[in-house]
Amino acid sequence: MLDKINSIKEEAVRFKAATQEELEEFRLKYLSKKGLLNELFDEFKVVVAEQKREAGQKLNELKNLLAETFERNKESLNSETTSAHDSDLTRPGDSIPIGSRHPISIVRKEICDIFARLGFTIAEGPEIEDDWHVFSALNFPKEHPARDMQDTFFVTKEPDVVLRTHTSSVQVRVMESAKPPIRMIMPGRVFRNEAVSARAHCIFHQVEGLYISENVSFADMKQTLMYFTKELFGEDKEIRLRPSFFPFTEPSAEMDVSCTCSKKGCNLCKGTGWLEIMGCGMVDPNVLDYCGIDSRKYSGYAFGMGIERIAFLKFQIKDIRMYFENDVRFLRQFVV
Ligand code: PHE
Repeated sequence: MLDKINSIKEEAVRFKAATQEELEEFRLKYLSKKGLLNELFDEFKVVVAEQKREAGQKLNELKNLLAETFERNKESLNSETTSAHDSDLTRPGDSIPIGSRHPISIVRKEICDIFARLGFTIAEGPEIEDDWHVFSALNFPKEHPARDMQDTFFVTKEPDVVLRTHTSSVQVRVMESAKPPIRMIMPGRVFRNEAVSARAHCIFHQVEGLYISENVSFADMKQTLMYFTKELFGEDKEIRLRPSFFPFTEPSAEMDVSCTCSKKGCNLCKGTGWLEIMGCGMVDPNVLDYCGIDSRKYSGYAFGMGIERIAFLKFQIKDIRMYFENDVRFLRQFVV
């Protein structure tokens, strides 16, 4: 009987289950009701008295060893299945949410990229400006209503320091410091003292453009703006220039783009078939002279557009206030 116990012991020490089936075989063979362990306990009953002590001890040791072997194998089989799952190298990695660009940034970038392809470089200027750069150098008469408290946020009075009401102030800075030919666009934030509503805000963004060289004509401007519009809104779009007035351009125009309804007339264009997107014109010779550029030798055009308005049209946004609320449910929609 002791021999039997020893040989089972050896088998148990060497046993390693590779599968659940092997483990079950082990259990049936040794630990089940009709297994070898119970057989040995039956034999034990008839062991002669003087061997009982030793045999009993060995038998108990074997019983513990078999139970331990079974448990250990069961655990390692279970952990193997989970660790094999954990280290599945073919599983795609967890994605890291990287957010999205603000619609104003998307449109500003698109506008700048189109003009960059035409050789325009980017210039920037300060948001807090003096009267000269925002108004005087741009040919605004002293009594012009745009200087009124209604429109302009004043930082100080006498000398007048204001929050710029348009990016045309950067035009002045560029012309004062650079020699023609000048080919630049100037994106930036502007401020107007207006009541906030769905269509108007006291803070908004513009992109200004300026081209100054010899013999620049109105036709050059029209061609450039047509190319820009088709790049931004699509090949099928048309443009229309309507006479207008700005103190710093002569002649001046407002530019419209044909509406998505193909000029049939819809809610968006209020039945007109056209959407106004920018102001433009030939830089007034007075402005060139104020900025130290010889108006007899050089001419140029300028244009300016509101980014919010263009983003309205591109993304069908209905309320300008949404741009500034930073509601993630709104912002999340602009993943590109
Ligand atoms: N500065 C004008 C505005 O804010 C736009 C404009 C820019 C018009 C350049 C003509 C030329 O409305």
